[in-house]
This record gives sequence, C-alpha cells and structure tokens, in this order.
Amino acid sequence: MSVVTEQPQLGATSRPTFPPPVSYGALRLRSRYLLSPLAGFTNMPFRRIVHEIGGVGLTTTDLVNARALLYQSPKTLELIETCEVESPFAVQIFGSDVGTMCDAARLLETRGVDSIDINMGCPVRRIVANGSGASMMCRPDETLSLVRAIVESVRIPVTVKMRLGWDATQLTAPFFAREFEQAGIAAVAIHGRTREQGFSGSVDRDGIRQVVEAVERIPVIGNGDVRTVADAEVMLRETGCHGVSIGRGALANPWIFRQLVEWETTGSFGPAGTFDERLALMQQQFRYLAERHGTESAIIGFRKMAHWYLKAMHVRAKLRHEFQLIRDPDGLDRYFETLAAEGPVNGNRTGELPEMHIPVPSGPIERW
Ligand SMILES: Cc1cc2nc3c(=O)[nH]c(=O)nc-3n(C[C@H](O)[C@H](O)[C@H](O)COP(=O)(O)O)c2cc1C
Repeated sequence: MSVVTEQPQLGATSRPTFPPPVSYGALRLRSRYLLSPLAGFTNMPFRRIVHEIGGVGLTTTDLVNARALLYQSPKTLELIETCEVESPFAVQIFGSDVGTMCDAARLLETRGVDSIDINMGCPVRRIVANGSGASMMCRPDETLSLVRAIVESVRIPVTVKMRLGWDATQLTAPFFAREFEQAGIAAVAIHGRTREQGFSGSVDRDGIRQVVEAVERIPVIGNGDVRTVADAEVMLRETGCHGVSIGRGALANPWIFRQLVEWETTGSFGPAGTFDERLALMQQQFRYLAERHGTESAIIGFRKMAHWYLKAMHVRAKLRHEFQLIRDPDGLDRYFETLAAEGPVNGNRTGELPEMHIPVPSGPIERW
C-alpha cells in the first residue's frame, strides 16, 4: 500500500495558486518577492548583492528623512545611491510636513527613482515623536491629505508601508488601505504587527488578510517573519496577499528570493549558500562598499554587517570579534585567509548553514 504524505519534501514546499504578477501602476515588478527595508543593513552594497543573486522583485532604501533629502546632506544622498543592476528601485521617505514630503518626492522623480514608498510603520520613538512613521496611523485626516498631495505631485507610483495599527484597540490598516487606494496609492505593504507590539509576538496573518480584502485592485504586500519558502507559502495562502516582503530573513539568507522564484516557477528550489559561498558573498559586498568609500572606511562601515554574516556562517566567537579589531587592508586580507582556512565551528563548509538570528530593538518601546 502506498502512503500519501502531505508533508512537503525538503526543497519542494507545496504551492498555492499564485495571484497575477505584481505591478505598481505601470511598473511591473521582477517578482512578487521584495526586500523589506532594514535601516543600517539594506544599504546599496547589500541590495546589489541581492539583485545579483536574483529573484528579488524590488529593493527599497532604508527610510530617508524627507527634509534631509532636500538639504542634500551627503549622508542622505548616500542612502539614495543606486546602481545599474538595482532595477526597479524604490526610495522610502518619512516626514509629516506636506510641502517637504512633496518636494522630496519630486526630487526623487527627477533623479530617476522608479517608485516612492511612504514610511507609516516605523515604531521608533524619535520618528513617531515628530508625527512620522507609525504615528501617522493616529491622524487619518492629515495622513490622507498628505498621501493625496504626494500622489498628485509625481507621475511615478507611490506606495505605503504600514503596520496593522497603533495598538490592538486601533486596527486601522484596512481603513487606510481602502482610502489610500482611492487616493491613488499604487500598493500597500503591511507588517502584520501593531506599533505597540514592536517586533514582539507573532505576525497576525488574519490582520493582513483583512487589508487584502479591504482593497479592490491594488496589490497588497504581506510582511513579517518570513524566513523560508514554507513561510512565504503560508503568508500567500492564508492572507491572499499578492506579494511578500522579506527583511531579516534576507539578511539570514540572501538567496531566499531566488529560491522563491524557483519554487513558484518549478515547484522545487535549490539550497541556500554554503560557508564558502557566504564567504565569497561577504567579500564581494565588502568590495562594493570599498569601491564607494575606500578600503579603510569600508572596514569600519562593514563591522555591523560582518558581525551578522559571521554569525550566520557559524564562525567561532573569538574569530568573529577579531573582525571588529581590523584596522587596515593587510589585516583584512589576513583575516579572510584565516576565516577561509578555519571554516564554521559546527557543520561543514559545503553544507547548508542553519538559520541566523537578527536582533531587533527590545525592551519597552518608549525607550527605543
Ligand atoms: C533593524 C531594522 C531596521 C528596520 N528599518 C526599517 C526601515 O527603514 N523602513 C521600514 O519601513 N521598515 C523597517 N524595518 C521593518 C522591516 O522592514 C520589516 O517590516 C520587519 O522587520 C518585519 O519583517 P521581517 O520579519 O521580514 O524582518 C526595520 C526592521 C529592523 C529589524
């Protein structure tokens, strides 16, 4: 007697019926799997790496202060730098002043940005205290006027990324999504948590589904806690969302977009990178940073990212720490030689690496 199992085989997660390809207005995305902004991590070298691996539908910058953009401060201009392979490319802006946000949107359009995303989900105190980020969900009238004005000031698609609401008593995302669609917003991305939750608890997929049901035409992008192809399958199936955006899961596994597209088109997918492939990726990302900033500044600028790469690669703690002490290119070369020779502390260098943990702000939200 043969046994029928519903358990998916490794690399062959079951497939839902996929919605049509995702477009933001006239802009057709490369796939329905998007990179979610992670301030401090999803910089241009990382986004370039993700595009080069393939499968990603759209990449977006970290949140950019609209006012600082108008001052054209060098740090802000660096945030919106892009490269040829990064297409399509979106910039996420935050702010609460109508004139400033519209001017920033126009500036981005003249610089050739494909799409503008409005941040309405950031829970961090310094952002919400200025009336930006998630606090916009507490002022519907003002927020809708702001969104209408931005949409009217540019021809490129404008999208919104938001949370389910401010807290469990104000789950306003479906209301906003419906109003945004009327205002001409091209898509909404929804992180399935409230602002009060921060990054705690689990993602409420039922809440995301209510957003999907609230709109008529525009795509809804589901977001939160997707780490694997199987997680994406659950997100698509349970919420009916049209696309999935992935933040921390992409830092842990930059191959995830390629795996997802393979899965969608063929039903199976290849493995994530091995130790040696991750080492090559890390060195490549470092080179991109060094091309822009020079090797010595890149060594300092890469410390935060290296910390997580090395954790994901299961490098022993002392050797991980030694990256933070490197001061010059010779030290870096020696470091990479040692790393290549030593390999991971557990597992082997050609096998798939286990998942990596990405920290999120913790503790009471008021202290973030
Ligand atoms: C370190 C960090 C930085 C983030 N920066 C941004 C940001 O700049 N803009 C934004 O819209 N969301 C930001 N987020 C939220 C993520 O885009 C995403 O909504 C959230 O992490 C849930 O998705 P994930 O589980 O796939 O990471 C950030 C999250 C983290 C952990």
